[in-house]
Amino acid sequence: MSTTVAIDGPSGAGKSTIGHALAQRIDATFVDTGLMYRALTLAALERDVDLDDGPALATLVDACPIEVERARPDQTDRLETVLLDGRDVTLEVRSPRVDRAVSAVSRHPEVRDAMVGVQRAAAWRGSVVMVGRDIGTVILPEATMKVFLTADAEVRAARRANEMGRPDRVDEYLEEIRRRDAADSGRAVAPLRIPPGALVLDTGKLAVDACVEAIIEALERLDA
Ligand code: DC
Repeated sequence: MSTTVAIDGPSGAGKSTIGHALAQRIDATFVDTGLMYRALTLAALERDVDLDDGPALATLVDACPIEVERARPDQTDRLETVLLDGRDVTLEVRSPRVDRAVSAVSRHPEVRDAMVGVQRAAAWRGSVVMVGRDIGTVILPEATMKVFLTADAEVRAARRANEMGRPDRVDEYLEEIRRRDAADSGRAVAPLRIPPGALVLDTGKLAVDACVEAIIEALERLDA
């Protein structure tokens, strides 16, 4: 029987790291939906599409196929590869200009509607660990298990600054994280919320391995 795990939480909470490790442990496909919104944002920036124009942004979802694939073993700079119209944009989708614009793109109902189908389709292929902001609440409300990962904004900013090799820039990352938290939680459509019944884990207090173990134990309890 296939298992679906929905993992939500704010920027920098460790969703990708923990979700990817969990997917390997339970032999599931890992899908990072943030990468899909990032690839769409890059497409919009490259084509000068108005970021306030929801319908125009939604047509881009069909016009520019976005694929998220497992990274090859030699690609150690990533967990997954993102293709936009067949072009590898994995590193570009993490650029500051995409960081700044992605909340504006992902807030539109037309964009979210277009993404629902793409993301649900990814979960029909078998066991999946899907990470994002609205996976347990909107995309996979029937998921086998829902997890909400969180950590203080300061912890998440320090983590991001270290990952980017810029510990001197922690204040800038903190500002960016606070701005995105407000945008993700305050938007009208599919805001970031703790799904009912979710296992809530604070990744500032629990290490990656401990979070993965806690999720696996909770899954085993469901099976028992
Ligand atoms: O997880 P991330 O930082 O890569 O996500 C980038 C942005 O995409 C984030 O600011 C909010 C948006 N997003 C969303 O609205 N819904 C999702 N399921 C995933 C991401």
